[in-house]
Amino acid sequence: MQRRLLMNTRVLVVYFSRTGHTHQVAAAIANEVGADLEPILDRTRRMGVFGYLRSGFEAAFQRHVDIGAAEHDPATYDLVIVGTPIWNLAVSSPVLSYLQRHRDAFRAVAFFCTCGGMGAERVFAQMARAAGAKPAATLAVREADLGRAEVDIERFATSIETAVELTRPPIIRRNEPHARS
Ligand SMILES: Cc1cc2nc3c(=O)[nH]c(=O)nc-3n(C[C@H](O)[C@H](O)[C@H](O)COP(=O)(O)O)c2cc1C
Repeated sequence: MQRRLLMNTRVLVVYFSRTGHTHQVAAAIANEVGADLEPILDRTRRMGVFGYLRSGFEAAFQRHVDIGAAEHDPATYDLVIVGTPIWNLAVSSPVLSYLQRHRDAFRAVAFFCTCGGMGAERVFAQMARAAGAKPAATLAVREADLGRAEVDIERFATSIETAVELTRPPIIRRNEPHARS
């Protein structure tokens, strides 16, 4: 069931996943907050040794890559939650390309990543620069913790709810002293 405070908020979860970890967390977050879910369509071969090396190279040098058109228009969402694997202490190239392509469309963002355990703060800073927006909340999940990330995902959703609630304009009722007649 969708969280109460996010009930009137349109939320999109967008992610890239090479080996399924980030997909797993993205699906759990979308389920927790009641969001649409979209994988970034990457056109580059990333499997095998060469795919691994190429991915690390692209991330380290912040390369743009060819990604498919977005299925969901981020401009029609109140909040877009973006997830990436960490590659060479950097945001993955498909996610960097998505953030830069849509940076004028975001009203609010939150970020998450999956990783071996190193580089999350640096990656979130890169993502904020690419999106042109500060995240409402962030979450890093180590691959060793993938099976037990439930509580962290709930906390992440609660932080997002709090941020959304703080930015929502107050409701002024007709019989309150400040209400206009
Ligand atoms: C090219 C490459 C570089 C990586 N570099 C890092 C790194 O710097 N720090 C880290 O914690 N994990 C690193 N990892 C591990 C991934 O971030 C981790 O396995 C992640 O959960 C993969 O997500 P995915 O299954 O959604 O693709 C790297 C993985 C790849 C393929």
